[in-house]
Amino acid sequence: MNERAPWLTHFGFTRTPFGKSLAPAELFSRGPHQEAVARILHCIAEATLCVITGEVGTGKTVAARAARATLDPSRYAVIYVANPAFGTRGLYVTVVRALGAAPRFFKAEVMAQAQELLAAEEAERHRRVVIVVDEAHLLTPAQLEELRLLTNAEMDSRSPFAGILLGQPSLNRQLRLGVFAALDQRIATRYQLPPMDLGDATAYLRHHLALAGRSDQLFADDAVVRLHRLSNGIPRALNNAATAALIAAAADGKELVDDACAKKAVAELTRE
Ligand SMILES: Nc1ncnc2c1ncn2[C@@H]1O[C@H](COP(=O)(O)OP(=O)(O)O)[C@@H](O)[C@H]1O
Ligand SMILES: [Mg+2]
Repeated sequence: MNERAPWLTHFGFTRTPFGKSLAPAELFSRGPHQEAVARILHCIAEATLCVITGEVGTGKTVAARAARATLDPSRYAVIYVANPAFGTRGLYVTVVRALGAAPRFFKAEVMAQAQELLAAEEAERHRRVVIVVDEAHLLTPAQLEELRLLTNAEMDSRSPFAGILLGQPSLNRQLRLGVFAALDQRIATRYQLPPMDLGDATAYLRHHLALAGRSDQLFADDAVVRLHRLSNGIPRALNNAATAALIAAAADGKELVDDACAKKAVAELTRE
């Protein structure tokens, strides 16, 4: 365990605010977050493909985790690929392993094996497989092709799994490229998570502070404006900006994060 930092004591936080490990029930449910979760769940219910894009740190992974937390594990087998750039042996091997089998040796065999296992999961175990590919903008053309072939299993009728692709906005462009038009056409839902506006950011700060035991707004209005601008409304960037400002305030012995503290945070975080 880390030693308790002085700024945490200064503000009387019961835990480190803006931490990463939030339980699903603790998430800030701004409209776009709820919409992303709803679309992911819809895609899972219909066994289609969906693409959720957004800048780094906008809450894509958080939304997928929130959706997953609502699923009954006896009815859904979720295969989460954290980063397709690892795992050079390809998607089929990941699917086969995740469904509890040892991948066969040759690539063509592994593909058939993955298809059989996907079909069996639904037909015999009555579990729907959900493949979540995070950082999907890193999928290589070969991996996208693997994905396309997997969706084709049942002679184009319906996909034997639900596929959720999470990635940076460039993902949509990649998918529109000629070769992937067939995959692109199978994408039933697309959603881009927008950054937070000032109102969202204000509520977001309050939400995180409350989780850490301070239900009062510790940030002055002009400080919020500055931190919102610095972070471009991106949750992860706002976490860092707010933390830097809180530390600056504690160092100055202030009970409130005023604009001077926000300026210090900006100077710290934009330093080369
Ligand atoms: N709905 C939310 N409620 C609370 N915190 C959030 C929420 N969305 C994002 N965050 C914060 O932003 C961070 C980045 O979110 P994440 O989903 O990892 O971004 P992305 O996957 O888009 O890069 C999270 O670790 C969390 O601290
Ligand atoms: Mg992510």
